Amino acid sequence: MAFPEGFLQELKMRNDITEVVSPYVNLKRRGRNMVGLCPFHGEKTPSFNIYTENGSFYCFGCGVGGDVISFIMKIENLDYVDAVKFLAQRAGMELPENSYDDSMSKLRKRIYEANREAARFYYKTLYQPLGKEGLDYLHGRMLSDRTIRHFGLGFADDDWSSLTTHLKSLGFSENELVSANLAVQRRSGNGVYDRFTNRVMFPIIDLRGNVIAFGGRIMTDQKPKYLNTSDTPVFKKSENLFSLNNAKNAGSRTLMLCEGYMDVIAVTQAGFKNAVATLGTALTTEQAMLIKRYADEVIICYDADEAGQKATARAIPILRNAGLLVRVLTIPNGKDPDEFIKSQGADGPEAFKAIIDRSGNDVDYRLQKLKADFNLDVSDGKVGYLEAASRIIASIQSPIEQDVYASKLCKEFQIDKNAFKAQLQKLNKSRYREDYRKQQQKIRADLSGRGDRVDTDKAKVPRSSSAEEALVVYLINNPDSAERISGEISAEQFQNSLMRRYYEYFLFRIKDGKDALNSVSADFTSDEVNKIYGMLRKYASVAQTKKSLEEYIKVIREESAKPKHDEVGKMSGEELNDYLRKLREAKK
Ligand code: CTP
Ligand code: MN
Repeated sequence: MAFPEGFLQELKMRNDITEVVSPYVNLKRRGRNMVGLCPFHGEKTPSFNIYTENGSFYCFGCGVGGDVISFIMKIENLDYVDAVKFLAQRAGMELPENSYDDSMSKLRKRIYEANREAARFYYKTLYQPLGKEGLDYLHGRMLSDRTIRHFGLGFADDDWSSLTTHLKSLGFSENELVSANLAVQRRSGNGVYDRFTNRVMFPIIDLRGNVIAFGGRIMTDQKPKYLNTSDTPVFKKSENLFSLNNAKNAGSRTLMLCEGYMDVIAVTQAGFKNAVATLGTALTTEQAMLIKRYADEVIICYDADEAGQKATARAIPILRNAGLLVRVLTIPNGKDPDEFIKSQGADGPEAFKAIIDRSGNDVDYRLQKLKADFNLDVSDGKVGYLEAASRIIASIQSPIEQDVYASKLCKEFQIDKNAFKAQLQKLNKSRYREDYRKQQQKIRADLSGRGDRVDTDKAKVPRSSSAEEALVVYLINNPDSAERISGEISAEQFQNSLMRRYYEYFLFRIKDGKDALNSVSADFTSDEVNKIYGMLRKYASVAQTKKSLEEYIKVIREESAKPKHDEVGKMSGEELNDYLRKLREAKK
């Protein structure tokens, strides 16, 4: 599996972590380290740190950490082998031959190839007699042939084996087609059939131009309306956006965020080339961070229906948290962007431009929405509205922006600005902090909770977990003491299963004469790697002396001598005595 140790060491030496990270993060020196705004979660004050002395990084905001290889895996969305290849190429190094297992990397490559061939096949079918139904459908939805070509739209015909037969003739195996989710295994286990039939097809293309997935729309009212590629080794729907490959080249730092494929296509055809869409799920933090790499501002162009408005309310804080400015488009008459543009006939582009120009930012939008909840004709209603509005305004981070909205609102309702500001100040202190704290907590839970999402035993056995954690860190930092430690504590004595795995792994590597951390990004999941680097950070400023080592060992022994709760209940009298004796011995 692994690359040779020497190769990895050289790879890391030749890819200085600061230089590798620089193009993605604006870094500033702070003492011996570098800091910047984390590229993996939205933040306004930097908590992303680079530790040059050992070539590692860690973000205190979201708990992501690792070495230069894990950084590239995360930011470029690559698996381990591909990240190593990426860095080797960057440093002009040859890859050692046959020394590593790149079967996953090869499979991904085959999936890209199969997807590309499938997209070609669907596109070709669209312009054959067999595809007439699909072409008529797309033309009926006012798409030009140019637009169809630009997006590479296609048609999956009604036969359950057309694509499979074609791709097999090109040398793709059934296993590859199933892995790509282009084909599905028959229940009988015998052979495969096409995943998409009788649908117009929308290829989803990543930033490197690879076809990574498809969406297929049925041409009638049947359900499901859209069928999408499930997650595959090259596709995670929560981390990709439809048409970002096009939109990123639109020459604008503003992106239009739509709900669906057809909206993006209609908006693009109308001349607004900066449109993207989520892929049938609510907007995620990962998608917002991806947008932030290409834009400073997002115009939310969701449907005017209730679902669309709910989705808008959910998307606003996610985009804001990613550091993006937000505007919200209000589409008249409950339509979606595609329907609106079509309803305007030849004036579509101009009419759409007009509603874009009229779109307010997220605060305007929220204040406007809020009005519906109050009867503004009576005093009580006005007071209620103003109180609720002041809470929205208090949640804005910039004091200047706060002032602008306060002034606007006071003018609109002809109230004394000083009184309103006093109210704001009160809220600023309490509510805002509270909201902010909750938001931060949520981000942590979403993103980083990573740490404890992997370490599920910690809550169950907190005392042993923290001693075991400390011992693992001690071991990594003091490889010379590996012999001694392993003589005192065996892996079986660990109560926390994750810590036990770490302990066994690091002991083994150190005894094998290897650098403890050299290969963690190959041997652990990304969450587990984050956890390791989080642990190292936690103890970075704690002096771990020989005396602390004794303490860890003592605690681990005590805890391991205790039986689990359910075991005590089942013990016979003799077993219980035996247990108590062990407990006393451990205490000595
Ligand atoms: N979607 C999905 N699966 C469904 C329905 C919807 O994945 N069964 C996703 C698709 O990405 C779709 C988006 O959600 O583009 C928006 O859905 P919806 O508003 O229902 O469809 P429209 O975009 O309006 O599609 P159309 O105009 O073709 O009806
Ligand atoms: Mn629609």
